Amino acid sequence: MTLSIVIMAAGKGTRMKSSRPKVLHALAGRPMLAHVVDTTATLAATQQIVITGHGAEQVEATMRVACAEAPLQFVRQEPQLGTGHAVQQAVPVLPDEGITLILNGDTPLIAARTARALIEACAGERLALLTMSLDDPTGYGRIVRDGWGEQVLAIVEHKDATEAQRALNEVYTGVMAAPTRLLKGWLARLTNDNAQREYYLTDVVAMACRDKVPVVAAHPQSEVEVLGVNSPAQLAELERRYQRVQAERLMEQGVRLADPARFDLRGRLHCGQDVDIDVNCVFEGDVQLGDNVRIGAHCVVRNAVIEAGAVIHPFTHIDGDKDGVTVGEGALIGPFARLRPGARLGPEVHIGNFVEVKNSTLARGAKANHLAYLGDATVGERVNYGAGAITANYDGANKHRTVIGNDVHVGSNCVLIAPITLGDGATIGGGSTVSKDAPAGQLTVARAKQVSLSGWTRPRKTRD
Ligand code: UD1
Ligand code: MG
Repeated sequence: MTLSIVIMAAGKGTRMKSSRPKVLHALAGRPMLAHVVDTTATLAATQQIVITGHGAEQVEATMRVACAEAPLQFVRQEPQLGTGHAVQQAVPVLPDEGITLILNGDTPLIAARTARALIEACAGERLALLTMSLDDPTGYGRIVRDGWGEQVLAIVEHKDATEAQRALNEVYTGVMAAPTRLLKGWLARLTNDNAQREYYLTDVVAMACRDKVPVVAAHPQSEVEVLGVNSPAQLAELERRYQRVQAERLMEQGVRLADPARFDLRGRLHCGQDVDIDVNCVFEGDVQLGDNVRIGAHCVVRNAVIEAGAVIHPFTHIDGDKDGVTVGEGALIGPFARLRPGARLGPEVHIGNFVEVKNSTLARGAKANHLAYLGDATVGERVNYGAGAITANYDGANKHRTVIGNDVHVGSNCVLIAPITLGDGATIGGGSTVSKDAPAGQLTVARAKQVSLSGWTRPRKTRD
């Protein structure tokens, strides 16, 4: 069966009161439209068309990056004269046979199984609508049925509805599946004779009835699938509901969330057994937490692998970006630590408060516990890296590496000017600025000698 998917994403989203096109506003860190594309990409469609218009260039450019794998076809709608007009623009690229599934780009959480059920209900010969009863149907198109409440007769938009129709609480969710050939015929007959002077896609329902084409309604499993976003308040509400769904899924797997209402996942999180996550943590991109990992309150973790038994203390920021971050087994990180892209920490490593690590490898048991910077460094086993020590890795033009052998002690407040190597077992005296390699096993001190002046007196205030 030929399946064409049309996702409408050309509208301005006036009620968002934003310069950003509505469908690009993020839900769980991903553009709403990308959620719809991700889901429909699993339906094995013949073609996946996105209708763009308002902010078309921005929408298309963003989607080419966000959904690089999906073979999207963009069709422009200029100007935007309504949802019916939007689908009319796709008619030249739609085949004559098969089914067309139409979705709104501002209804991000539609589930694949619901879309499949709708396609089955259509079966190439019926018009299938996804409908739902809502406690508060304000703003939605209402499903008008015959006197027996059986046959669907029409969809009436909220703005065009009579008081009696507004009292109906079965709404159109913005998803329909139609036989493509019939749909093309109905689209050609749309008019804009309504309150908004728009060509409403929803008018095809009354046309199908007139043509004696059966109209059937299917329902989603959960209300959250069909909540449309038209305003910042609706976006925030949907975000919380989506986060709740994700939190519950993790808790079902055994993850202990201190408070599922204060948890945010903007990507994918894989957890081992006995993982504890305290309140107000944000996970982004791809994050893996091994068995017995504990994440303290207020941590932000992006693109990172945290191995078994590691503890991330509160207020730690881990951002692996493109290179990723690895935290080894049993490592202790934070509070207030910052791990940046390319930080590779071995087992039992300790990184304490106000320590920043970027593009550096730390071997088993290395410690940097206070106020330090490690950039472009290779750090051996059991190294103790003192408070206030930094690698001066950038000469203004290029980055250079610092190599620190096993069992090295770097005293407090040292500057290691890269490129430089500190041999195994070397000790660097506190306050040293080291610009040449330090030999293994020796004390290296590079600072002015301490002098004491006897007979020196403090200056006194002069009086007039
Ligand atoms: C639409 C439905 C309404 C339904 C609701 C569900 C119509 C006429 N009404 O109303 O019955 O209850 O969705 O959420 O279809 N768009 C375009 N081009 C346009 C106008 C809109 O591509 O000219 C796109 C928008 O970007 C959006 C989608 O179509 O993704 C829906 O548009 P919106 O204006 O939000 O329609 P609703 O008023 O929500
Ligand atoms: Mg809408």
